[in-house]
Amino acid sequence: VSLLPYNTFGIDKKAKYFSIANNIHDVIEAIQFSKKNNIPLVVLGGGSNILLTKDLEALLLKIDIQGISLIKETSESVWIEVGAGVNWHSLVLYCIEKEWAGVENLSLIPGTVGASPMQNIGAYGIEIKEVFENLTAINRDTLSIEKFDWAQCEFGYRESVFKNKLKNKYIISSVCFKLNKNPVFNTNYGAIQDTLQSMQVEELSIKAISDAVIKIRQSKLPDPKQIGNAGSFFKNPTVETAKFEALKKEYPLIPGYPLQDGVKIPAAWLIEQAGWKGKRFGNIGVHQNQPLVLVNYGDGDGAEIKILSEKIQASVEEKFGILLSPEVNFL
Ligand code: EPU
Repeated sequence: VSLLPYNTFGIDKKAKYFSIANNIHDVIEAIQFSKKNNIPLVVLGGGSNILLTKDLEALLLKIDIQGISLIKETSESVWIEVGAGVNWHSLVLYCIEKEWAGVENLSLIPGTVGASPMQNIGAYGIEIKEVFENLTAINRDTLSIEKFDWAQCEFGYRESVFKNKLKNKYIISSVCFKLNKNPVFNTNYGAIQDTLQSMQVEELSIKAISDAVIKIRQSKLPDPKQIGNAGSFFKNPTVETAKFEALKKEYPLIPGYPLQDGVKIPAAWLIEQAGWKGKRFGNIGVHQNQPLVLVNYGDGDGAEIKILSEKIQASVEEKFGILLSPEVNFL
């Protein structure tokens, strides 16, 4: 099966077997099939955070479990259970229509609900861990259906337990979120304030914030329907404060955000300074508005994009002594 329609990078690789899961039962069948035939099982959500570098000798399972249900409601909050296959942005739009606050800053992020806790998706001052309540997942060894609460997920910046010690051990089938009926607006991110102003918003609302985020994203990030990409290719690195001070002497304009354990530096800045912004190499390249995003202009090859990413890593490391780690998963 060609995987072209199933990855936003638009890479044309094949999987030996392919199946779509509409419910937990389908997921269990797929796990059993992969065990019986002794082939790896690769799980796919929206395909918006992967780079296919070769054909897969595997069963590729696309999770398409749908449904949004209200499970509890108080005067202040609602709890909703959402199928792993629900498109993330349609969930955001649904919440805005219902006037449930909490995910509006996460508008227009590609991908599915099931993938969102995997890497604790975040943008414009909010991470999913702030609205996350629990999730349900299928244990790939025992086939039992288990619940994970907030602490068990071990969320970090673009991290969770499912990318670390439980990697490839569970398949997420649904996620429960807690949303606010009384919005607490988060407009700390400078670009949101500027955009709200330029939109001449008179009364702040979750819809206005969502519209502003959509506008910012559309102006900076390439639309995968037009140019293949998987969003940020690397994570923003955190360096020790002393290291940052040393870099600042050499590069007075280097941006940095102080954290508890060091200073976070925008990878986009490092990549731009290393001379990669807007560079095109045949069918692939580095986006001209956001150099953190690698792009496939047409017939690009995943293996070539991987090589390009390694060259970027090497040159950033040479210039700044910082090793960027990929945010995208290589398959
Ligand atoms: N910058 C440059 N040159 C550029 C663009 C940006 O130097 O061409 C520097 C500037 O200093 C700018 C800073 O990078 O202030 C931050 O840029 P931006 O606001 O675009 O955010 P980012 O740190 O590059 C992160 C997330 C994005 C998320 C935005 C907004 C990661 C790896 N990426 O990008 O997430 O949308 O913040 O919150 O943390 C994704 O993960 O796929 C993604 C798009």
